[in-house]
Amino acid sequence: MERTFVLVKPDGVQRGLIGEVIARLEKRGLKLTAAKFLAVSNDLAEKHYAVHKGKDFYPGLIRYITSAPVMAMVWEGTNAVAVVRQTMGATRPWEAAPGSIRHDFALEVGRNLTHASDSVENAQAEIALWFSPTELVEWQRCSDDWIF
Ligand code: PPS
Repeated sequence: MERTFVLVKPDGVQRGLIGEVIARLEKRGLKLTAAKFLAVSNDLAEKHYAVHKGKDFYPGLIRYITSAPVMAMVWEGTNAVAVVRQTMGATRPWEAAPGSIRHDFALEVGRNLTHASDSVENAQAEIALWFSPTELVEWQRCSDDWIF
């Protein structure tokens, strides 16, 4: 079972889209493994986006991600990395597939609502950066017998 890291970025929080993002991932069939709502420190932002240091958009990206709280989450499921990226849509919202979150709610690459890991390796590194092992919840869905 694959895990991936997801952020609802400051614009997603400000626009009241946390529930929309969670609802879409839940309905897709993915399982929530961890979640926390936090203000991102400069140190955490710089570690998370270290690979982009030196690019022209980097200073703005750090200002953006530290500008207001974010919702950080870990989601689990078959091919979770690819499935979550598809649910979010392309990084540049004007390239995002119809029906994806960025297509439906975003216009600007600098305000593209969410972050999702782009590989299994990066997902593992990002989960380890944002969450301690004890914050990851192992749980099973109950059977219909239990619900009804
Ligand atoms: S690159 O250079 O192709 O590797 O960059 P890319 O994968 O397209 O984007 C990396 C992250 O930077 C964000 N980004 C931007 N933020 C603000 N302004 C501009 N112009 C900009 N361009 C790219 C982009 O959303 C990616 O962030 P995450 O959180 O990974 O989606």
